[in-house]
Amino acid sequence: MKVTTIGTGYVGLVTGACLAEMGNHVVCLDTNSDKIRILNEGEIPIHEPGLAEVVRRNVASGRLQFTTNVDAAVDHGTILFIAVGTPPGEDGSADMQYVQAAARSIGARMTDYKLVVDKSTVPVGTADAVRNAIEGELARRGVALEFSVVSNPEFLKEGAAVEDFMKPDRIIVGSDDERATLLMRALYSPFNRNRDRLVVMDLRSAELTKYAANAMLATRISFMNEMALLAEQVGADIEWVRRGIGSDPRIGHDFLYSGAGYGGSCFPKDVKALIRTAEAAGSGMRVLRAVDEANERQKLVLVDKVVQRFGDDLRGRHFALWGLAFKPNTDDLREAPSRVVIAELLRRGATICAYDPVAMAEAQKALAGLEGLGYAASANAALEGADALVIVTEWKEFRTPDFEFIKSALKQPVVFDGRNLYEPPLMQALGIEHWGIGRGT
Ligand code: NAD
Ligand code: UGA
Repeated sequence: MKVTTIGTGYVGLVTGACLAEMGNHVVCLDTNSDKIRILNEGEIPIHEPGLAEVVRRNVASGRLQFTTNVDAAVDHGTILFIAVGTPPGEDGSADMQYVQAAARSIGARMTDYKLVVDKSTVPVGTADAVRNAIEGELARRGVALEFSVVSNPEFLKEGAAVEDFMKPDRIIVGSDDERATLLMRALYSPFNRNRDRLVVMDLRSAELTKYAANAMLATRISFMNEMALLAEQVGADIEWVRRGIGSDPRIGHDFLYSGAGYGGSCFPKDVKALIRTAEAAGSGMRVLRAVDEANERQKLVLVDKVVQRFGDDLRGRHFALWGLAFKPNTDDLREAPSRVVIAELLRRGATICAYDPVAMAEAQKALAGLEGLGYAASANAALEGADALVIVTEWKEFRTPDFEFIKSALKQPVVFDGRNLYEPPLMQALGIEHWGIGRGT
């Protein structure tokens, strides 16, 4: 089938590459000419495990192309995925300007039937808005052409994007149009693996499903973060509580890890956007407000512990910081808890030497100009002469470090473990002062 992605970011690039892998002919369009140039030079603009191989294989086979040419891209695909950003606007609601522009660019150029797929995370009612934008452009041109609009939200996780796309738990399709549904069924048939994974529903339910999924996951995390605070206060260990409740199949083990707060380009923005949607609809959404508020607070929990240990005034203190990306296996720093921790430590007068296995280049761009923040070439190098180590992201290479080296490199063996990487009894046996999250025993 002929497919176009409008937007070649995380979602557009992964969607395009994985659909090409299944034999489709895919053109990926982006307005960012640097991104397209990099891709056309054979490089990948983001760090995403396994993506480079899929992209290179399919570019070589001629099934995957990248362009900034809107006419050619709209002309190419029968199926056009809108995968542009929906960043938070000033009031927290999703900024729809990129989706609107993408829809207008389709209506302004299409010359035959198109199936337009809303892949971006968009508020309820967007399919109608996309349809209106396309119809408006067709009317302006004085042409009548058939098209369909469906909702097909994406559930991939950064760091596991290719795996998630290739092996989806479910494929949500919101559609009120039989022809469109049949095309979506055909497109996704190679991803079904033993059972039909397509869940076809009405458009608005599909749009809400995406926000509900992210909001539910964010709720679990904030719940566990609050429970961790309580565990500290009452002398319990959140890690035992996590195992204890996760073994109930109704709860499950995933997404119960307390830590330095959830970040990334999705949970924070989607929780806020859903709150705004609920407000506009006259619904209270009290649970999600608390989830959001708890998370904002949680990003400062590591700093609270540093202050408890070293005092309010951190002038003259120097910290090693491990992990800048919002989660492991990505170089994405959007809404990363590390940014809040760094800003607050610097504001209190401390200096920092940071290290991240892959996000250093991104960090140097995103955090440029922060006085007192430096970088080290390795995890161990970051430790030299620091008063303590602060761990914000749970990269694998931090899990079993050379503890003796940590002890010798730090001025005092103090570790603020924002992702509960280390077991308190072992730290005690090694003579390391360990500050975990929710480890109150
Ligand atoms: P991104 O910022 O990485 O990529 C968006 C791309 O769209 C950018 O490269 C931008 O230049 C391009 N663009 C903007 N307007 C355009 C236009 N009119 N024509 C062509 N290209 C245009 O964003 P992302 O992380 O891929 O997210 C895209 C959407 O998918 C968002 O709604 C997001 O919430 C959702 N989503 C993201 C993830 C994720 O893990 N990143 C997962 C699921 C859903
Ligand atoms: C999340 C969802 O998991 C995806 O299903 C969804 O498609 C995506 O948002 C989206 O809509 O864009 P992502 O943000 O890439 O994916 O990463 P997650 O693995 O969900 O982690 C998000 C944040 O939650 C990270 O900061 C992570 O450290 C934190 N987290 C996650 C916890 O604090 N505890 C956990 O148990 C799990």
